[in-house]
Amino acid sequence: MKRIFINETISKVGEKVKVAGWVQVRRDHGKIIFIDLRDRSGLLQVVFAGNAGLLKEADKLRAEWVISIEGLIKERPEKLKNPKLETGGVELEAEVLEILNEAETPPFEIGDKEKVNEELRMEYRYLDLRDPKMQENMAKRSDALGFVGDYLRSEKFIEIETPDLTKGTPEGAREFVVPSRKHPGDFFVLPQSPQQFKQLLMVAGFEKYFQIARCFRDEDSRGDRQPEFTQLDIEMSFADENDITDATEEMIIGLIRKIFPEREISEIPFPKISYVEAMKKYRTDKPDLRKNKNNPNELAFAWIVDMPLFEYSETEKKWVSAHHPFTAPIDEQYGKWDTENLGKLKARAYDLVLNGYEIGGGSVRIHKRDLQNKIFEILGLSRAAIESRFGHMLKAFEYGAPPHGGIALGIDRLLMILTNENSIREVIAFPKTGDDRDLMLGAPSEISDEQMKELHISLQEDKK
Ligand code: AMO
Repeated sequence: MKRIFINETISKVGEKVKVAGWVQVRRDHGKIIFIDLRDRSGLLQVVFAGNAGLLKEADKLRAEWVISIEGLIKERPEKLKNPKLETGGVELEAEVLEILNEAETPPFEIGDKEKVNEELRMEYRYLDLRDPKMQENMAKRSDALGFVGDYLRSEKFIEIETPDLTKGTPEGAREFVVPSRKHPGDFFVLPQSPQQFKQLLMVAGFEKYFQIARCFRDEDSRGDRQPEFTQLDIEMSFADENDITDATEEMIIGLIRKIFPEREISEIPFPKISYVEAMKKYRTDKPDLRKNKNNPNELAFAWIVDMPLFEYSETEKKWVSAHHPFTAPIDEQYGKWDTENLGKLKARAYDLVLNGYEIGGGSVRIHKRDLQNKIFEILGLSRAAIESRFGHMLKAFEYGAPPHGGIALGIDRLLMILTNENSIREVIAFPKTGDDRDLMLGAPSEISDEQMKELHISLQEDKK
């Protein structure tokens, strides 16, 4: 018999079925044993009664044992129905039980993740992910990514993968590096974003690109930040800032209506607030504009526009790009860099904020060599540094680069808010801890002396 999902049993009253999953709990009433069987789709009450051999087998069952059961789906008597469960109106009268695998007593009870120490959850992530809310979060993530992929393809975007072994692209964080075995002393850099590749794809004539892209940033982790995270990365040619924000907004509204229909968007179109106004009025560039913070379904989006082009970095003691150096200045300020205070220059850049979080950012790009070169100079890069780090971009701009722009959405942050979680770790299957470790694998970890030698690396200081 073919196994069916537990939530399919609702429509099978009076039929013989086969289900499989994990034992959630067993309740022993002597001549009758109940178990709650759990699979990805839900919980089902299974009844063992009558048959002595079967009862003896069922008596052995413990939490998290893996079993399959064949039997008859019956409607429960009215007063025994459980309205809280999707399958609360039915039960399975077991006829055949097969024990597929036994299980150790788990280090915590499945289904109560809020009460479990997070380090323990991370160490036993494969058990933690059995929690119904984690299962739901992962399913929603899959549905959301499925929706945006289908939507963007239907809008004539093309999905293109870009490499992870690359050269640095500046997004304001430290980089993760990978030593090259074949080129002693040389290193690949893991991308902080696919920024340069997506712009080069516009030069290549793809016009509308997207990618679900893994990005790597070596910065302090916190609830809404991971060293490895996912962006929905988008780039469009012949598009200005309104084309890009409109397209993004339409996609997000579609996503929420389809996959998170219970959520209420407080204002459509999303309000646009200038950076200066946001700082003045809310003292932050990511204001939480919800009208009622006690309403768990409210979603308050806003675009923050007219962002600054440069900002002064107190740590580096120099001007740095507020977004990234590929961002175009607003037209009226072209050529005024030497006379005006750099801090007053505005960029054709925008951020998308939701309930007080920055969930995306993008800009119209520079697509001309001279202007791009000028920006690098203002940022204090020498001619040699410009050539070695960004020579390929400048060269590409000489071969018919179209005007272009784009955006990247932080998928983990967006999903964290849409699933009502308070950390992006709850929507990532295998996240890192706050100090960037994987407690399940024990990573990062040492590599062998042979590997170190092969990679031409040695430690300057002994390990602590
Ligand atoms: P930006 O650096 O603003 O732009 O990143 C875009 C969005 O990615 C999310 N994000 C993160 N999420 C989790 N952990 C992190 N460490 C992390 N860092 C960023 C945020 C952010 O808004 N290339 C440009 C986009 C562009 O110009 O098109 C970029 O990466 O939600």
